Amino acid sequence: MTDMGDPMLPAVTRVVRRRRETHDVRTLELELPPDYPGYVPGQFSMLYAPGVGEVPVSMSGDPERGGLVHTIRAVGPVSRALADLGRGASLGLRGPFGSAWPLYEARGRDVVIMAGGLGLAPLRPLLYKVFARPRDYPRITLLYGTRSPEDILFQRELDRWREKTGADIRVTVDHAGGEWRGPVGVVTSLLQAEQFDPGNAVAFLCGPEVMMRFSIASLTDLGLPAESIYVSMERNMKCAVGHCGHCQFGPHFICKNGPVFRYDRVRGLFGLREF
Ligand SMILES: Cc1cc2nc3c(=O)[nH]c(=O)nc-3n(C[C@H](O)[C@H](O)[C@H](O)COP(=O)(O)OP(=O)(O)OC[C@H]3O[C@@H](n4cnc5c(N)ncnc54)[C@H](O)[C@@H]3O)c2cc1C
Ligand code: FES
Repeated sequence: MTDMGDPMLPAVTRVVRRRRETHDVRTLELELPPDYPGYVPGQFSMLYAPGVGEVPVSMSGDPERGGLVHTIRAVGPVSRALADLGRGASLGLRGPFGSAWPLYEARGRDVVIMAGGLGLAPLRPLLYKVFARPRDYPRITLLYGTRSPEDILFQRELDRWREKTGADIRVTVDHAGGEWRGPVGVVTSLLQAEQFDPGNAVAFLCGPEVMMRFSIASLTDLGLPAESIYVSMERNMKCAVGHCGHCQFGPHFICKNGPVFRYDRVRGLFGLREF
């Protein structure tokens, strides 16, 4: 059961640390199984909660630090069981699977990162990478929207990045109580023409599909070509290795060809329901 060579065989791993992010989101740091091959930002694991089931969850940690970190929102039986695992608990791990955020495309260009809700988690490994190399990525804009201030992920890290990097980092919420002093509105309301040069920029988007659709429309209105926009897609998965067809997305399998796609290659498939 611990062979990382067979992609269908889960390795047994253990929770090293669990951190509460919001009322329904937990970050798990997992023990690295022997022979774990490493991963790149954008990829995901299949996590198996013993006796409950297996689901895809993106990497959310810093690939350079070597650990395996996942941030999970409890929405149903499997994600709830995973989010409930305490320190030392065992679980199954397959992967890493899927495509990467194409960092090489971003080198020397303005980088615009737009995240909605939990979508900040799969983008965090990319953020660690670009912040670690300011010479390669001199101009970074991070626009992040959540439902409420209580749903903001990685708040302390966002503050630290705002302080320590020259990045333009803005957060908005759909609904706010009395304490919130920041913007209220959808994430596209944070987007401004002066944040990037459309002829020399690349955008990375992750969040609910409707959020990505509106973000793409706003970016293209500001002149960013579809070939410069990358999106991370989600569909139900079973095998994660391109065999079962569960994650079919037009001619693509999200587990194998995605989850990260260049927008112009999947434009016609956006908004299609999954069956
Ligand atoms: C490539 C990929 C990466 C992912 N990365 C993460 C991650 O980093 N963190 C994380 O928490 N989740 C992530 N997900 C989503 C996660 O896999 C689902 O939340 C999980 O499969 C739900 O399973 P469940 O048994 O807990 O709930 P289910 O019983 O399957 O679903 C419960 C409810 O949640 C809704 N739901 C199920 N899947 C999704 C989804 N993908 N998006 C939104 N709503 C959904 C269902 O429609 C239903 O209403 C990712 C999915 C994919 C495909
Ligand atoms: S999950 Fe089986 S083909 Fe993608």
